[in-house]
Amino acid sequence: APDLSLANVKAHLSQLQSIATANGGNRAHGRSGYLASANYVMGQLDAAGFSTVLQSFTYNGATGYNVIADWPGGDPNDILMTGAHLDSVTAGPGINDNGSGSASILETALEVARQSLQPAKHLRFAWWGAEELGLRGSQFYVSNLPVAERAKIKGYLNFDMVGSPNAGYFVYDGDNSDGTGSGPGPAGSAALERTIQDYFTSISVPTRGTDFDGRSDYGPFIAVGIPAGGTFTGAEGIKSAAQATLWGGTAGQAFDVCYHRACDTTANISDTALDRNADAIAYTVWTIATAVPPA
Ligand code: PHE
Ligand code: ZN
Ligand code: ZN
Ligand code: ZN
Ligand code: CA
Repeated sequence: APDLSLANVKAHLSQLQSIATANGGNRAHGRSGYLASANYVMGQLDAAGFSTVLQSFTYNGATGYNVIADWPGGDPNDILMTGAHLDSVTAGPGINDNGSGSASILETALEVARQSLQPAKHLRFAWWGAEELGLRGSQFYVSNLPVAERAKIKGYLNFDMVGSPNAGYFVYDGDNSDGTGSGPGPAGSAALERTIQDYFTSISVPTRGTDFDGRSDYGPFIAVGIPAGGTFTGAEGIKSAAQATLWGGTAGQAFDVCYHRACDTTANISDTALDRNADAIAYTVWTIATAVPPA
């Protein structure tokens, strides 16, 4: 799997920051900064050779958009989907939440194109609208997928906040190995969790589980039985002393002190966390998509 360029990921973040600055300071649902963000992502993907769709929906009297991008080729009945929400809250530019996930999956997709990857699986990437208003874009996408199309999606990888300045390294707990939360994800989620963990093990970074608590866009996928996985570096939660020992950073402080605030700018990013997570995304997509299917 490739080592993604941190500089390229950060260049996408700078573009999203500029879009927010030019559009009243945010990239929220129904605001001009959101559509500009969607157009930026779509422009990059179109130029790289993806088949893209701007899927619109209505929520709260405003039009929202999902960007859906398919990489031509692979088994059309065996789809690996990777997604991140592209909207911010109205309070700020949303660079960690969730420019970080959006930029990381964008750079993964662009690297697929640069390498002319010919994976066994079909690859689909998604940038969701209106997550901050209750997972509206991802819910719209899943609800409007014909059941036959739904059945072709064999896994969904979600990345929401992967550059938190006081980062933790959390992996969605697909097998509920910690026994907490609402239980395991759909069958197959544990394998996604293990693949992500394998990457962090390879760079000697310890991880911990985080529950499928319904707070991000995997929700509508697991609700219809699609296996899901992903990473998260923490939001408003407070880093414990044990977590600071494990990962460094500051105990007693939030993983992201600028969560949902105006200060969630390009300054609100841990380059180390962003680099590790971007590389984990590329590793996971490459490993799963290029696996030789059983005969
Ligand atoms: N979805 C939350 C938000 O966008 C952040 C979050 C992600 C919280 C993952 C918990 C787990 O604000
Ligand atoms: Zn790297
Ligand atoms: Zn948020
Ligand atoms: Zn988020
Ligand atoms: Ca659990």
